[in-house]
Formats: sequence, C-alpha cells, structure tokens
Amino acid sequence: PVAIMAPTDTGYKPSDVAHVPSAASELQGLFRAAMRAALPKLTDEPVVVPTGNPKFGDYQLNNAMRIFAHLKGQEGAPKNPSALAAAVLDKLLETLPADGIIAVERALVKEKGGKEAEKVVSPAIAGPGFINIRVSRAWTARHIQAMLRDGIETWAPRVGYQRAVVDFSSPNVAKEMHVGHLRSTVIGDSLASTLEFCGVDVLRLNHVGDWGTQFGMLIQHLDDRREGGLAGGAAEEDVKDLQALYKAAKKRFDAEPEFKARAREAVTQLQSGNELFLQAWKRICEASRREFQAIYDRLGVRLIERGESSYNPLLRPLVEELCAMGIAEDSDGAKVVWVEGEKVPLMVQKSDGGFGYGTTDMAALRQRAHDERGDWLIYVVDEGQSGHFRLVFGAGRKAGILPQEKDAPPRVDFVGFGLVLGSDGKRIRTRDEGAAVRLVELLDEAKERSREAIVAHNRENEEKGRPFVTFTPKELDEAASIMGYGAVKYADLKNNRLTNYKFNFDEMLDLAGNTAVFLLYMHARIASIDSKAVARKREDGRATLGIDELKRSATLMLAHDKEAALGLHIVRFPDALESALADLKPNVIADYAFNLAGAYNSFYAECQVVGSEEEDSRRLLCEATAVVMRACLKLLGIQPLYRI
Ligand code: ARG
Repeated sequence: PVAIMAPTDTGYKPSDVAHVPSAASELQGLFRAAMRAALPKLTDEPVVVPTGNPKFGDYQLNNAMRIFAHLKGQEGAPKNPSALAAAVLDKLLETLPADGIIAVERALVKEKGGKEAEKVVSPAIAGPGFINIRVSRAWTARHIQAMLRDGIETWAPRVGYQRAVVDFSSPNVAKEMHVGHLRSTVIGDSLASTLEFCGVDVLRLNHVGDWGTQFGMLIQHLDDRREGGLAGGAAEEDVKDLQALYKAAKKRFDAEPEFKARAREAVTQLQSGNELFLQAWKRICEASRREFQAIYDRLGVRLIERGESSYNPLLRPLVEELCAMGIAEDSDGAKVVWVEGEKVPLMVQKSDGGFGYGTTDMAALRQRAHDERGDWLIYVVDEGQSGHFRLVFGAGRKAGILPQEKDAPPRVDFVGFGLVLGSDGKRIRTRDEGAAVRLVELLDEAKERSREAIVAHNRENEEKGRPFVTFTPKELDEAASIMGYGAVKYADLKNNRLTNYKFNFDEMLDLAGNTAVFLLYMHARIASIDSKAVARKREDGRATLGIDELKRSATLMLAHDKEAALGLHIVRFPDALESALADLKPNVIADYAFNLAGAYNSFYAECQVVGSEEEDSRRLLCEATAVVMRACLKLLGIQPLYRI
C-alpha cells in the first residue's frame, strides 16, 4: 500500500546544495549586460519582475523610467524612456544566446510604405519604456528537468544573511496560550522554515514570559491555599490546572488589598532568590511548559525556549552601563531611554528598582546580536507591540547594540500581525472570565471535523463507485491531524499578516476553497496519477517506467499552451520565495501554491496524461508540480498527504 505521508520526506539540507539562478535572476543578468553595453556610464541595476498579466509578457524590465531620470541631463543620455528602452533592447537582441531563456518571436509586420517585413515582435517595448519578454518553453522545460534531477533545494534563492534569530510564539507562563500566540507560532515557523530552506542558519527562540509580576500573586496564592504553606511542599496537583490557579489568584488580587500587598512582596521575595518561592516558580513554569510543548508537538513546530527569566543576570549590569553611557536618564526615580521621534521613552528600570519587559528586551537584543552573532533579528509579535519594539530598536541603536547605518548588520525586523476574530467579527481571545476559546479545543475541533470529512468523502466515493481509500485507524488519525492542523495554519497564513481575519471552521475546511484541504487533495490527486500510470497494463505488454527512471530517461516538453503555463508557474517558485522574504509575508507562498493548483487544474482539464502520447513528458510535469507543491506546504508548516 502507498503510505499516506511522504515516504522520502527527509527535509532539506540547503547548505550542501548547488544554487541554480532563477529565471528572474538569469534575465536580470542578460539585461544588466545589455544595459552596460547600451549605456556605459550607467551604474543602476535593471529591475526585472514577473508580470501578473500574460499580455505584458512573462517578465518585464520595469525601471527604464527611473534610470532615465538618473541619466537626464548627462551627455549622450537618451531623449526619453522609450528611446532608452529601445537602445537596451537592441543590445539585448544583439547578444542574445540562441536557445536561451528569452523567446524571440518574429512576425511579418507591415512597414510604412505598405511593404511587409519580418520583425522581432517579442521581446517588445510597451508603454513608456517597459520591455516585455517571454520565457522560452524549451528553456523552461530544461530548467524544470534539471530541478527534478538535482532537487528543489537548488532553486532556493540566496539570502544575504548567515544567521537569523527568529523570536516567535512566546506565550506567557500560567496564562493560556491564546490564538494570538497561535498566529505568532505559525507565522514565525513559516518564516523560519523559509529562511532555513534558503540556507540561513536559524535560531528559533521562544521568548516565554516566565518572569512577570503575575508570579507574585500565583505563588502567594499557592502559599495561602494549603496548610503549612509552600514549606509544606506544594504538590503537583496545585499547578495542574494553571488556568484555574491564575483565575483564582487574579480574583483575590483584584478584590483583596491585603492579598495584593502580600503578592507584591512575594515578587520581591522571588527576585531576591527565596528558595521556597523559586521552587514554586519552577513548578509553575514546568507545568506551563508541558502544556505549550503539547501544542508545539501537535503543530510540528520546533522552538528553543529562552524565557525572560534567562536574561535576569544581565539586567542590572545593562542598566548600569546605559546610565554610565548617559543613554538612560532619571525620570521620577525610574530610568528611561528616550528615542528620537517617540512620544514615550523606554523604561529600563522602575522607580521601585525592578526591571521589566523593556529591560529584558534590551538584554535579549544584545545577547542575540553579540553572543549569538545573529545578522538578522526577527520578532514575530502582535501589531499592538510595534511601539514597544520601535523603542527597543531605537534604544538599541543609541546604545550601539545595533548599527547606526540602516543597512548594516544586524538587521532587525518587527513582524507584526493583526487579530483573529470570531464569526461575530469580534476579537477572539481567552479571557479570565466568560467563554474562553482555548487553543487546544480549537485544534481538537479542527482535527475531528477533518476526520469526519475524510470518512464521509471516501464513503461517498465508495457508494458512487469511484476510487476510495481505506485507512487503518492510525492512518486516519494521522491524516486527520495533518488536515485539521494544516487547515488552521493555512487559514492564518493565507492572509496578509497585518489584516484581521475571521476564524471559521467551515471556511477553512472547504474542499473547494482556498484552503489547506484543497491543496492537500490536489497534491494527493497529482501523486495518484503516477501510480495510475505505473499500474496500467500497456498494450505492448511492457512495464511502465517508475518516476525515478523516467526522470533520467524521458524528456520534458512543453508543447500545449496549458503545459507551458504550468511550466512557467513552476519556474516562478523562487520569485515567490524572494517576495515572501522581502516583506516577511508567508501569504505570498500560500498565494503561489493556490495558483499552482489552479494552473495544474487548467492543464489537467485539457491534457490527458495516462495513456496519451505525451505520457512520459506529462508525468514529469505532474511530478514537478507535486515537488513544488510539497515545498510550498513544507514552508507553510503543512505535511503533504499522498492518499486521502
Ligand atoms: N510574551 C509576550 C506576549 O505574550 C510576547 C513576547 C514577544 N517577544 C519579545 N521579545 N518581547 O505578549
């Protein structure tokens, strides 16, 4: 039987993989050479972009106007952007290698005198200086075939950074991990995976909130609750239901001034190293960690925990240094750092001498830049904290932790995201009281609904005499997890991260929508074509080659328009990665994957695969589609399914 999950999914090892320039960078090189030849004084780089509309070719040089503006007034400068483009195009055509990436089309064109003459009609100049080109089908076919041979990793674009530190997920101890943390978890995981795919060494950090003032009330409450207090040894069961513990402690904290005072005192006790308090704190953290880990295991997310408490020893020396440097200043007994252009300062020490969220983030920034040698520091945190991070980054620049020049490493990025809304359009979140939407329950429901859908789908197929899949209970469970959790992730990742989105099970599990379910079915369907081809009895009695042999012996050809369109979309995969990384937006990859499924569907509707004359070539095209689809799914944190 065919495994339902990837049989050879061993992960990518980009570091030892050769890099193949993408179509866009190949074109960039050709345009650069043509521009240097046409305009020797020019130092600008050509900007070649994929076009959204085939009317404008497949790729387009789109910065002739800007270049023109730069050259204006200089000796020998072209007289307008179109003339500039014409000069570049002339050189391009002169130097174009035969059988290269740019397709050259000629046609009979009527000249002024009414005579007809053969002329190049593509590449062509359009509008005020755009140069539109078409990618040659033969080149596309060769490019894809090489990828099938050498692996999709060879298509990973080069990223100019060695070591990225991605801070994501970062829930708070004893408070429930809520959907906001889910967003951070799936977006951060996707960005980290994309960087890893591109050969960047990524440190995935979980900046867990394990050192807040909430511990004072939690510990004090534990102390009060049992005879003999903490000294009596708070048992495991005291921290079993952290939610309940938090709720009860918070209630007293808000209602009993006397308790509140003792809770404050408990914070001081904890921070000054009281052994009993430390033990209680550790127990609470461990219980919380178990809950978080269960979620990460389900979601298949890897993270290294480095909570706020781990920066404790660094805080006092850091603040002293900032004061000595004159960067932190006194403000009513507190120590603050002012950042140019900001209305409020970053607080690094409270008036009672305590340190807070901002101090910890300053210490973490330095640790990541200096000790970890990160040259790209990324923070995936809800948009509501953008102000906090502007202050942290600004203070970091002032203190010399970050460079003064904007483009010098380490680069820092705040990757914000919007809210998750319930179907009523209101913010969905866990509250201390009222209807709490627990993350675990969301995941459970997504999985259960997927299980039902998979079973119903196959039962219907069986009843209607169509091919159906029978699962062992274990396989069904795995498929339901992959589909359910994949659906939740995809529903998040397909949105521009800055927009709020509605959490809706029916929508995210829609087989016909822009969903993980749709993509997983597409992938399984593509994968099944190959088994169909192999299983089929051929008239000549010979066995059909397996896909691995086929990759070596058959030649991919893109003759039909739909084959060519699918092929073009496949070679644009690196463009999607580049643009996803440029804005740190995983939705670009989701869009790409959805459009890949669309291009595949159009191809499949018009081009017979199994039993056709083009069977071998088309099986290769199907395989390439499946390979790229799996890569997309992987970057979105979704495991592929081979049978559903
Ligand atoms: N624990 C914080 C929260 O739940 C997020 C931490 C983000 N990372 C950081 N370095 N501040 O809101």
